[in-house]
Amino acid sequence: MRGARIAGTGRELPSRVVTNEDLTKLMDTTDEWIVQRTGIRERRFADPSAGNSHMGAAAGRKAIAQAGISVEDVGLLVFATLSPDYYFPGCGVMVQAQLGMPTVGALDVRDQCTGFLYGLSVAEAYVKGGFHDYVLVIGSELHSKGLNFSTAGRDTAVIFGDGAGAVVVGPAENGKGILSSHLHSEGKHAAELCVEEPGFLKSPWLTHETIDSGKHYPKMNGKYVFAHAVRRFPEVIRESLAKNGYTASDLALLIPHQANQRITQAVGAAMELPEGKVFSNIERYGNTTAASIPIALDECLEQGRIREGDLVCLAAFGSGFTWASTLIRW
Ligand code: COA
Repeated sequence: MRGARIAGTGRELPSRVVTNEDLTKLMDTTDEWIVQRTGIRERRFADPSAGNSHMGAAAGRKAIAQAGISVEDVGLLVFATLSPDYYFPGCGVMVQAQLGMPTVGALDVRDQCTGFLYGLSVAEAYVKGGFHDYVLVIGSELHSKGLNFSTAGRDTAVIFGDGAGAVVVGPAENGKGILSSHLHSEGKHAAELCVEEPGFLKSPWLTHETIDSGKHYPKMNGKYVFAHAVRRFPEVIRESLAKNGYTASDLALLIPHQANQRITQAVGAAMELPEGKVFSNIERYGNTTAASIPIALDECLEQGRIREGDLVCLAAFGSGFTWASTLIRW
């Protein structure tokens, strides 16, 4: 079976920077609280006229250019997000239209912070299986239009930010590229981090009460999420290493989903990795959910943090709960 590698990456961040200080004008919070608990200093918020798909398409366009291919070469498009332009259809078809792609399949993935790695595993399988030569995977998130910026929503409003990242997955030779992907879920924890309504458990699925009670805002049991994240991240990273006969000392770089700096530090410590081997940019972007790993990957490559031959692990944990890892020989 042929291999699959990341042939190009791209990112798109809104230009508007929102600092912790800016948020203190909207809710009862402080820069000190946010930095100490999350490591976040600022995040980006999209222009109100922009849609999620516009950011995703821009990131996708850059990844395609960097891969040295054209939109006609892409056989499948995968779009991961929890903040789509429309309830339906998904953002994938929006990107197909905006990029002027041929009428290829557009698959939408709904696995929140783990969504990008779920999408990447689909691309890996299609390319390794020889079904397509190039698959475009986008992770894009527009949180700023869906957060509660009053004190009642401060536990989540300070965490999330907007942005998009994308990769092109293409064929690989000589055992290089994506070695394996490992996906997990445990739905019994779904209510601990979710947007409860609107949803089709209710009839009708959207009511005035939904809005009045604020059930359309994210709901998070922060301590509970934290406890599961610091257990599942190391577990799934070790799973990918063991599957391929490696240990953590073989890793050149770990790129975790940027959930919270304290989670990233705990994971790095559990894996006994020095700080320089664990990438973090949460300080500047906050948690961009499905976009955080492809944004981070694009920055790592730009900064020369990944060299040919390096063993790199991507890992994520999020709502669902879902968690996953991808091990790559660069
Ligand atoms: N500013 C100031 N105070 C805040 C606040 C904010 N933005 N958000 C919450 N608080 C308050 C709480 O109301 C609480 O006040 P109380 O003691 O008077 O009730 C106090 O701070 C402590 O809240 P708590 O939830 O116990 O804090 P914490 O130490 O657990 O930190 C999180 C909160 C959300 C930062 C932390 O739980 C966390 O990072 N969890 C993981 C979240 C995550 O990564 N989610 C994404 C997963 S992909």
